[in-house]
Amino acid sequence: MPERSENTSDKYLNLGHTAAENHAKTQQKLYEKHVAETSSVTRRLDEFFKTNIFGFAWHYLKSRFGKRHAYPFYPVDGDNGVYRMQPSDKEGAVTVTLLSDWANDTRESDQIAHLVAQDMPGYTLHLGDVYYVGTREEIRENFTAPHASWYFGKSGSLALSGNHEMYSNGNAFFDHLLTAMYAMEGDVKHTQRAGFFCLENDFWRVIGLDTGYTSVGHPLLEVLFAPDSHLRKEQTDWLEEQVRLGDPHDKRGLIFLSHHPVLSGFRKEYPRPASQIAALMAGASRPAIWFWGHEHRLIGYKFREVCRGLSIYGRCIGVGGMPVETDEPGDREVIGQLDFYDRRVRKKIRRHQVGYNAYVALTFRGNQLTASYKDLESNLILEEKWEVELETGALRHEVLRHTPKLSWY
Ligand SMILES: [Fe+2]
Ligand SMILES: [Fe+2]
Repeated sequence: MPERSENTSDKYLNLGHTAAENHAKTQQKLYEKHVAETSSVTRRLDEFFKTNIFGFAWHYLKSRFGKRHAYPFYPVDGDNGVYRMQPSDKEGAVTVTLLSDWANDTRESDQIAHLVAQDMPGYTLHLGDVYYVGTREEIRENFTAPHASWYFGKSGSLALSGNHEMYSNGNAFFDHLLTAMYAMEGDVKHTQRAGFFCLENDFWRVIGLDTGYTSVGHPLLEVLFAPDSHLRKEQTDWLEEQVRLGDPHDKRGLIFLSHHPVLSGFRKEYPRPASQIAALMAGASRPAIWFWGHEHRLIGYKFREVCRGLSIYGRCIGVGGMPVETDEPGDREVIGQLDFYDRRVRKKIRRHQVGYNAYVALTFRGNQLTASYKDLESNLILEEKWEVELETGALRHEVLRHTPKLSWY
């Protein structure tokens, strides 16, 4: 039984989005651990800075100015990163659980992981962000240590990188986390070798995209060239040659996963990967379902065309472990984009109204896919369903049920 974390997600309230702040937090955590083990000095940030400013500066500068991890890609050693989904039950259904922004080692993330373990899905996928900066130690605490709470699916467990893993150049993500991740095909275990993957069967394709690697740039160049989370050439080559995304005869239902949001009514949007995908599909008009994280709120966007030829059901699910944001959408234009938004308040902390952590359980049955959104108290927030028409690739969507407290727009 995994040991329960004593941390609650509250300590992540107001966490900024800069690499510097996140590095300081990682160092502070190590410092506090050291202090707890060695003395009774009060745990104050200024105390930390007094004694550990060099440690912080060293780690920050080393990773900010150091080289990013080399970019691994498929095919490699005969493995092309495209795997057949294995049935999760006798009837042939496939169950896949999505968690995003989950890895912060808190009581909330443990609670979520515990519920996922009860579901026993065939696959568990993390859509990125290991807090604070994705170090080896942080990956151990969340995923690989004997007491870590991540649930490894029987048929597979795969990970995408967020921006936080790249704050430490992706070194521990590629060298430590991915070596623990895998997809099974029968008895063959494929260890995850790159930051992207495809799971597929006769009806559906689940394509995990790496947007983390290009979300963090060189600190000096970032001023001129804001990172746009584009898909690197190795990845678009893979989508073209291995996944064969441009095949006009392949009308299987498409589900994209990424860390960065294609759409946002609240923070920066990252449309580049979607336009790259549309270009690869060569103007074929295709609907798709797209789950992403990064923003710590649960939102469904209205079905809409995001670039020529590609229309999506966009779902923001970055609510695995971090304090969940419930703030009201500001302007009318934003409200017009929203379909649903879980604004239920779990607790109030000063001026913050913190919402419910949650995860998404997908079930594939033939040409039908249901998505169940469940919160950390085991309540069903929403259940929605898509049906793919294999002759045309069209998706039919329907909401099956939802909590009455879910906000609709
Ligand atoms: Fe995040
Ligand atoms: Fe993020």
